[in-house]
Amino acid sequence: LMVDKGNHRHFMAKEIHEQPEVVGHTLARYIDFTGETTKLPEDLPFDWTKLSRVVICACGTAYLAGLVAKYWFERYARLPVDIDIASEFRYREMPLDKGGLAIMISQSGETADTLAALRYCKGEGQTVASVVNVPESTIARESHVVFPTVAGPEIGVASTKAFTCQLTVLACLALAAGRARGVLSPDDEKTLVHALAEVPRLMAAALRVEPQIEALAKTLAKAPDALYLGRGTSYPLALEGALKLKEISYIHAEGYAAGELKHGPIALIDETMPVIVIAPHDQIFDKTVSNMQEVAARGGRIILITDAKGAEAATVDAAETIVMPSMPATVTPLVYALPIQLLAYHTAVFMGTDVDQPRNLAKSVTVE
Ligand code: AGP
Repeated sequence: LMVDKGNHRHFMAKEIHEQPEVVGHTLARYIDFTGETTKLPEDLPFDWTKLSRVVICACGTAYLAGLVAKYWFERYARLPVDIDIASEFRYREMPLDKGGLAIMISQSGETADTLAALRYCKGEGQTVASVVNVPESTIARESHVVFPTVAGPEIGVASTKAFTCQLTVLACLALAAGRARGVLSPDDEKTLVHALAEVPRLMAAALRVEPQIEALAKTLAKAPDALYLGRGTSYPLALEGALKLKEISYIHAEGYAAGELKHGPIALIDETMPVIVIAPHDQIFDKTVSNMQEVAARGGRIILITDAKGAEAATVDAAETIVMPSMPATVTPLVYALPIQLLAYHTAVFMGTDVDQPRNLAKSVTVE
């Protein structure tokens, strides 16, 4: 299979910029735009109304997509989610009630630990659904039902477009579950489907901050460490931001739930510590602002990623504010993923690392 970089310097840059398009393709597969509803195969091997909980297993970035989905399934479908990293889950021998649903998430569909978790779940009588980008992969073949992402081949070792396409599929699954379980009314579903349908356009708008992020990356490249904070669905995004930065720039980074700051990581804050705060102006925005004040009081350098309302309401001096378009809270993880990816990308380019093939990493981890 031949894939080229087009007019981009790296596959990662190309894949970041492809997101409005591939998320659009993925949406087209799971949304009926005329009926304004989600659209899943009719012969699903499980019944949303009979489930008492869902298990999600994955590794790395795919795991973080699952962590976002936990918030969605619990909020929109009142379906509790147990999520775990596949390498922990597989040896934990978690007791599972027969007839449950397990969802595996994997770009490659070949990750050894995720495959082992899948086999464990099957052995425990679970129906296994997988969200994969490679339909002919082992994980896809061994699943009872496959929900493909339509990201196209992802070449960069750092996952970008596969992540947002996984989020797209998972959002549609959560809405379909919510509708089936009677948690969402047809009108609720319509509103949320509309919000998802806007994502490609919002992503294209979000990409316009690239020059600002490129300039910012020059300062970030000088930092030995970085801290990412977020609450709610921005918390998994903080973890993803830190993972992306570590992988390709080799700068040590940590992601934390903003509310955990006082329970330890605040000790790290001084004038040299960049703190990237992901805070759309949502219901818990004010809580994150108080965490930013704690950071500011200790001289931490805040890089705030928010929207126009958030930028106005944040009563704190941020060294830099990156303004995203405004959007419904449901879709912020999809769109805010882009500035996070761009920040890691430009920092790595500035440092001169091998962005598409970072040291010590493989695209698909087929060994345990
Ligand atoms: C992401 O940037 C990583 N390179 C890595 O964490 C990856 O997401 C993980 O290895 C899972 O791979 P998979 O989606 O192919 O299963």
